[in-house]
Amino acid sequence: MSVFFRAALITALVASSFAQTFSTFTWPNAQLNYADKQLYEGGLSVVAQGCPSRDNSTIPAQWLRIAYHDMSTHNVDDGTGGLDASIQYELDRPQNIGTGMAQSMNDFGVLFTLTAPFFGNMLADVIALGAILAVKACGGPLIPFRAGRVDATSAGPETVPEPQQDLAVHTESFRKQGFSPTEMISLVACGHTLGGVRRADFPLVVTDPNADVVTFDSTTAFDNAVVSEYLRNTTENVLVVGPNVTTRSDFRIFSSDGNTTMQSMLSPDAFNQTCGDLIERMINTVPNGVELSDPIAEPFNYIVSEPLLSYQNGMLSLSTTLRVLNSNPSRTVTMFWADRNTEAASFCPPSGCSVNSSSSSNSITLSLIGKAQGVTADRYSFNLSTPAISSISKFWFQIDENGGSSPLITVDNGGSGFVIGQDAVFIDNSRSTQEFVFVPSFKIVNRLVVAVRGDSSSTVSVTTFDASFSSSTPPFKPTISTVQLELDNQNPAQGEFTFFTANITSTVTFLNLTANINGTTYMQENFDMTVTRFSD
Ligand SMILES: *[C@@H]1O[C@H](CO)[C@@H](O)[C@H](O)[C@H]1NC(C)=O
Ligand SMILES: *[C@@H]1O[C@H](CO)[C@@H](O)[C@H](O)[C@H]1NC(C)=O
Ligand SMILES: *[C@@H]1O[C@H](CO)[C@@H](O)[C@H](O)[C@H]1NC(C)=O
Ligand SMILES: *[C@@H]1O[C@H](CO)[C@@H](O)[C@H](O)[C@H]1NC(C)=O
Ligand SMILES: *[C@@H]1O[C@H](CO)[C@@H](O)[C@H](O)[C@H]1NC(C)=O
Ligand SMILES: *[C@@H]1O[C@H](CO)[C@@H](O)[C@H](O)[C@H]1NC(C)=O
Ligand SMILES: *[C@@H]1O[C@H](CO)[C@@H](O)[C@H](O)[C@H]1NC(C)=O
Ligand SMILES: *[C@@H]1O[C@H](CO)[C@@H](O)[C@H](O)[C@H]1NC(C)=O
Ligand SMILES: *[C@@H]1O[C@H](CO)[C@@H](O)[C@H](O)[C@H]1NC(C)=O
Ligand SMILES: *[C@@H]1O[C@H](CO)[C@@H](O)[C@H](O)[C@H]1NC(C)=O
Repeated sequence: MSVFFRAALITALVASSFAQTFSTFTWPNAQLNYADKQLYEGGLSVVAQGCPSRDNSTIPAQWLRIAYHDMSTHNVDDGTGGLDASIQYELDRPQNIGTGMAQSMNDFGVLFTLTAPFFGNMLADVIALGAILAVKACGGPLIPFRAGRVDATSAGPETVPEPQQDLAVHTESFRKQGFSPTEMISLVACGHTLGGVRRADFPLVVTDPNADVVTFDSTTAFDNAVVSEYLRNTTENVLVVGPNVTTRSDFRIFSSDGNTTMQSMLSPDAFNQTCGDLIERMINTVPNGVELSDPIAEPFNYIVSEPLLSYQNGMLSLSTTLRVLNSNPSRTVTMFWADRNTEAASFCPPSGCSVNSSSSSNSITLSLIGKAQGVTADRYSFNLSTPAISSISKFWFQIDENGGSSPLITVDNGGSGFVIGQDAVFIDNSRSTQEFVFVPSFKIVNRLVVAVRGDSSSTVSVTTFDASFSSSTPPFKPTISTVQLELDNQNPAQGEFTFFTANITSTVTFLNLTANINGTTYMQENFDMTVTRFSD
């Protein structure tokens, strides 16, 4: 079987095993755009790639552990707790001991571009994403990602099961988290296919003075070895065969139904299937009232990046990109746009103005999730220029696969086109610059320039979202600031436009822009700063 065919088959199997899949969404949808980007193009994937070891354990083992510990505060009886990043307030508890916890938080926090301001999902979504990447990076099943978790603002109850507790206590803990006695057995087996017990953290469990970490099974992979070694009685899992009978909690749990559940997970496929389902449920266990997005089981067919506008000498320029699934070097993509002010000045023909993509094709590297699904993608860049007086109301694309008889594909956002909501206020991408500041300490400052279709009596402000943790200790909060812009003396008024400026830090990922122009308020929400290319 060829590599390609196998990849295609896996994709088909994966797609069919998810109940709900969809290929696109109505643009703009900042949340789904963000979720796709984190899953398929996000930087956290690079850290998990290859299931790398760290301190005699693995990074994925640490990420899966923190996700479970965070979720374990859920209480089905009153709907509180769950995967809500309350773990950030619980790290000093003995049940959350281990350097892997702080290391994981650091992994998640340092990669600040992962996070976005929607619905308060600063950290909890990243913890969930970490679990998905951890499982897949070590060879386990693909778990679809849903975004929208809400971060807790204080600690939850101390509900992480501990090895010295008895079976009845464990069964009740898992019931409260929403798992039946059978699911408890499976979930513990799934979790304990990665990682092990560190002597420094659990000296009463690991007593061998030469051991640092005793792993739960003999492989680092996300595989059924934890089950097969247990059933063959060859396991070295200290929670099964450790010298201290009191802390043989995995033995009590695994054997609690006469090994029936463990037997049922012996086949690799069954292990995969069961663990995929249960870990998916685990990361989607959230407090009542939290609404998660639809699951993203495959990359969206088309992703349009934030349109970047600029005004110069009567001309308005717009640049954007279109991501298209399935690499095809012979594909050509054309962008079309329509006038906004046809009464003032008509520029484009009724069929629209058009421009071809600026470079032939830019194959992009997808995350380990995309690679596992066997998908590829290309990104096409466009830069159009049109008279500012006629401006732009919407744009759309036409794709020619150049594959002989295949018809042209129109990508027009379900018929409406990609609509430019307003052109009265926008970040001027070409006039904005990036500056290096050396005193008192080195930092990169974005000198934001905002174009306003109005005079100097207009007022402009931005609310910026900087996801890099504002402190190294909990609470881990993003930095949200509102800045009033000043009239920009470096960019004098031109045509109908007046320019305003403010300095913002280069770590800002999203911002909201508000302008009051002659009594009318205009807004642009969730402007994606990560795609800007300010010159220096
Ligand atoms: C890994 O374990 C060995 C002994 O088992 C120990 O000597 C070593 O320091 C450990 N490495 C780390 C990074 O903890
Ligand atoms: C588990 O499933 C994934 C795909 O979801 C596959 O790549 C992997 O090989 C499977 N592992 C086993 C042991 O079957
Ligand atoms: C499992 O192995 C241990 C020694 O490692 C032995 O004492 C025990 O009797 C074995 N149990 C079974 C059911 O074979
Ligand atoms: C076994 O573990 C329990 C619970 O941690 C502890 O109280 C007990 O002292 C341990 N026994 C030995 C012999 O270390
Ligand atoms: C379950 O499996 C374990 C490990 O092989 C064994 O020690 C135990 O006796 C089994 N229990 C039952 C009820 O078969
Ligand atoms: C755009 O590409 C098409 C097909 O390759 C070509 O026929 C057309 O001339 C191009 N248009 C421009 C403006 O370059
Ligand atoms: C787009 O083209 C205009 C002029 O046509 C230029 O000023 C601007 O820098 C270009 N933008 C990008 C992002 O290439
Ligand atoms: C921007 O506005 C949206 C919609 O009101 C809101 O969800 C988001 O939190 C705002 N972002 C910032 C940085 O204030
Ligand atoms: C932005 O920073 C630059 C360089 O540090 C400085 O010259 C300028 O006055 C600042 N602008 C504003 C609006 O603070
Ligand atoms: C502001 O609005 C008033 C009417 O509300 C209008 O007469 C005036 O021309 C406008 N000024 C500008 C600069 O658009």
